Amino acid sequence: MEPVELLRLTLHDEERTRALAAGLGRELWAGCVLALAGDLGSGKTTFVRGLAEGMEIDDHVSSPTYTLMHSYQGAGLELFHYDAWMEGRQKAVLQEGGEGVLDTQGVVVVEWAPKVAQFLPEKSLQIEFHHRSENCRELVFMGLADPWKAILDGLSERVAPVDES
Ligand SMILES: Nc1ncnc2c1ncn2[C@@H]1O[C@H](COP(=O)(O)OP(=O)(O)OP(=O)(O)O)[C@@H](O)[C@H]1O
Ligand SMILES: [Mg+2]
Repeated sequence: MEPVELLRLTLHDEERTRALAAGLGRELWAGCVLALAGDLGSGKTTFVRGLAEGMEIDDHVSSPTYTLMHSYQGAGLELFHYDAWMEGRQKAVLQEGGEGVLDTQGVVVVEWAPKVAQFLPEKSLQIEFHHRSENCRELVFMGLADPWKAILDGLSERVAPVDES
């Protein structure tokens, strides 16, 4: 199976991005990997804050740009939040976040995932963030249809319809 485009959504403000991510956060399982791509300020960390809400994590989620990884305990699962932006961190993600963490009890989310793409499993859900205007972002979800399609179909149905004109 090849990764395919599963969903493309325009989110007109930060709240919608967080709400969508919270919905996804309620559907995740141990060992799943979300690979986030997009420029500075495109909304990756904002999305992770929403994921954390959905996983019932009460802590404030801050960017792990300089620390590589932050982990948070949710109601059911732990969230491992990586950022592969910094030089030389790719190897660290492999060592700390490679097989070990990817097999774990937790959900793994990686910002700047293209920098470590070769280390991430094929079954990762890839999410591209595109900056469309000050408060508007377009998100493109790609991955294997099994298991992601049913989850994303359910998620998109719950997003309030927006005027695309
Ligand atoms: N629709 C939207 N979705 C997400 N964020 C938005 C939206 N509209 C505006 N924003 C703002 O854009 C910024 C996104 O910053 P964020 O830290 O999430 O980006 P990032 O992709 O993690 O950047 P970096 O690469 O530096 O880690 C925030 O200030 C947020 O309030
Ligand atoms: Mg960030």
